[in-house]
Amino acid sequence: MDFSNFFSGAEEAYIFYFCFIGANTQIGKGCLINTGAQIHHEVKIGDFTEVNPAALLLGKVEVGKFCFIGANATILPKVKIGNKVTEGAGDVVTQDIPDGVKVVGVLGRIIK
Ligand SMILES: CC(C)(COP(=O)(O)OP(=O)(O)OC[C@H]1O[C@@H](n2cnc3c(N)ncnc32)[C@H](O)[C@@H]1OP(=O)(O)O)[C@@H](O)C(=O)NCCC(=O)NCCS
Repeated sequence: MDFSNFFSGAEEAYIFYFCFIGANTQIGKGCLINTGAQIHHEVKIGDFTEVNPAALLLGKVEVGKFCFIGANATILPKVKIGNKVTEGAGDVVTQDIPDGVKVVGVLGRIIK
């Protein structure tokens, strides 16, 4: 694939093989959806966001522009992620994330 104009306003998203893209999703221009990623129903992804291999964006998740979602990260349903956010590989994200932050880890807290 030719990435020569990837960072200069490509009008399309690049969706690699073996991805799942659900119903009523919106994927912005210049996004890269890497192999094995799953974008479930009604997910919205802003322009120039990169979703890395095997990342899982569950129903109604919203991700802003210029984000980086690490490989194998799981974003739980309806979570909203701001713009320019980096999510580490393997993260499990249970709550909304503000603009411009870098997030790592899996929440393993006891809830009951
Ligand atoms: C999140 C990430 C961008 C952070 O990179 P960074 O800013 O260079 O951070 P560092 O490597 O300096 O790590 C800072 C701390 O976060 C921890 N950390 C980094 N990534 C982590 C992750 N994914 N999960 C849990 N902890 C992580 C480090 O262990 C370190 O902890 P410490 O301060 O206790 O030693 C990077 O680690 C990452 O996960 N990248 C995703 C890679 C990927 O999916 N690539 C796809 C290629 S196709």
